[in-house]
Amino acid sequence: MSAVASYDLELAAVRKVYDNHVVAVSNFDLRVDRGEFISFVGPSGCGKTTTLRMIAGFEAITSGDILIRDQRINDLPAERRPTSTIFQNFALFPHMTVRKNVEYGLAVKRMGAAERKRRVDGILEKFELTDVADRKTNGLSGGQRQRVALARGLVVEPQILLLDEPLGALDANLRKSIQNELKLLQRNLGITFIFVTHAQSEALVLSDRIVVMNRGEVEQVSPPIELYTRPKTPFVARFIGRNTIIDGTLAGVERGRGLVDTAYGRFTGVVNDPKLEIGTAASLVVPSEAIDIHAPTAPREPYAGNAITGRVLASDVVAHTRYLSLVLPDERELAVESHVSKYEEEFSDTVLICWSPDEGTIIAQGA
Ligand SMILES: Nc1ncnc2c1ncn2[C@@H]1O[C@H](COP(=O)(O)OP(=O)(O)O)[C@@H](O)[C@H]1O
Ligand SMILES: [Mg+2]
Repeated sequence: MSAVASYDLELAAVRKVYDNHVVAVSNFDLRVDRGEFISFVGPSGCGKTTTLRMIAGFEAITSGDILIRDQRINDLPAERRPTSTIFQNFALFPHMTVRKNVEYGLAVKRMGAAERKRRVDGILEKFELTDVADRKTNGLSGGQRQRVALARGLVVEPQILLLDEPLGALDANLRKSIQNELKLLQRNLGITFIFVTHAQSEALVLSDRIVVMNRGEVEQVSPPIELYTRPKTPFVARFIGRNTIIDGTLAGVERGRGLVDTAYGRFTGVVNDPKLEIGTAASLVVPSEAIDIHAPTAPREPYAGNAITGRVLASDVVAHTRYLSLVLPDERELAVESHVSKYEEEFSDTVLICWSPDEGTIIAQGA
C-alpha cells in the first residue's frame, strides 16, 4: 500500500435496496479528498441519510464498495470505522449529563479512564461546555445541544465527520452563526466533513463541493459556483438557484457555444453536455443574476441576440431583488428575479430581458 492514500473516502457504484424493495441509492460514485467539505443535497427521500449511514456502517450496502484511505471497509463494523456521526436532531441521551454524553464514544472504544477524562475535559473546554458538564442535556438550549453533539462526535478524533442535517432544529439566527463556526472548525481540524442538508443555501455557503442527489442517484458533483452557474441536468437547474429555463432544439455548436432554437428566437449559450447532439431537444438555462432588463428599444448586439420582449404583468421589489412577472410573445408567463440595480429606469409596460451568451447554459432536455 502506498504511503499516501489516493482518497480519504471513495464510494464506487454503491447501491442500497431495503428489505421492502425500495431502491434508496444506486450508482453512487464519489471520491473525496482529505479535508474536503462535501455536502449532499436533494429533496426528502432522495437517499442522503441512507448514503451517510452506509459510510458510517449503520446500514449494510447491497452492492458496490466503500473505501477509506484505500482500505475497503464494506464489512467493517461501525465502531471500528474512523468516522463519527452527528445525527439529525443530535440524538443526545437526554437523561445523561453533558460529560457522559461526550464520553460515550470513548467508553464504546474501551479507552482507559485517565485518558478518557483528559480527552473529555479538553473537548468540553474547546466547546465552552465546562460549566454545564454536569447538567443533563434535556435542559440545554439549542446552541448548547449542538455543541454537545459536535463535542461527542469529535472527541474520538475521527478522520471523517458525518453530519445529518445538524442545523435543521435550530432557529435562523443561531443557524447562521453555527454555520460559520462549523466552517472554521472544519478548516482548523483539517478533517473531511460529509454534511447532509436539504437547504441548498447552507450547502452553497459551506461546501468545497456539493453532491446533488435525486431519486437515489447522483445528478451532479461540483463546487458551489459551478453548480450555480453551470447546471448539468434539468433537475439541478430547477433545484439549485433561481433559473429561467427555455426549451428548444440544439441548432448548432461553434467554438463551445451552442445555438438553441426556441419559440422566442435563436439564442446562444455554453454547451454543458458533450453528448448533446445537434437536432435534439435542449434547454437553455439562465440564472436570474445573469438577466439584465432594458427598454424594448435597447441594442441587442452586446447580448449576441439573447433578448426576449415581455409584457410586464407585475413588478415588485423585496430588499434588493425585483420580482418581475412577464408575458412572453407566445403568452407563456415568465417569472424573472433580478437585482434592483438592473431595472432602475421607469419603463412602459414592455421590457427587454437580455443575458450574455457566456451566462446561459445549454443542457439536454429532461424526460
Ligand atoms: N429503514 C428503511 N427501510 C425501508 N425503506 C427506507 C428505510 N430508510 C429509508 N427508506 C427509504 O429509502 C429512501 C431514501 O430515504 P433517506 O435515505 O432517508 O432519504 P433522505 O435522507 O434523502 O430524506 C426513501 O424512499 C425512504 O422511504
Ligand atoms: Mg434524511
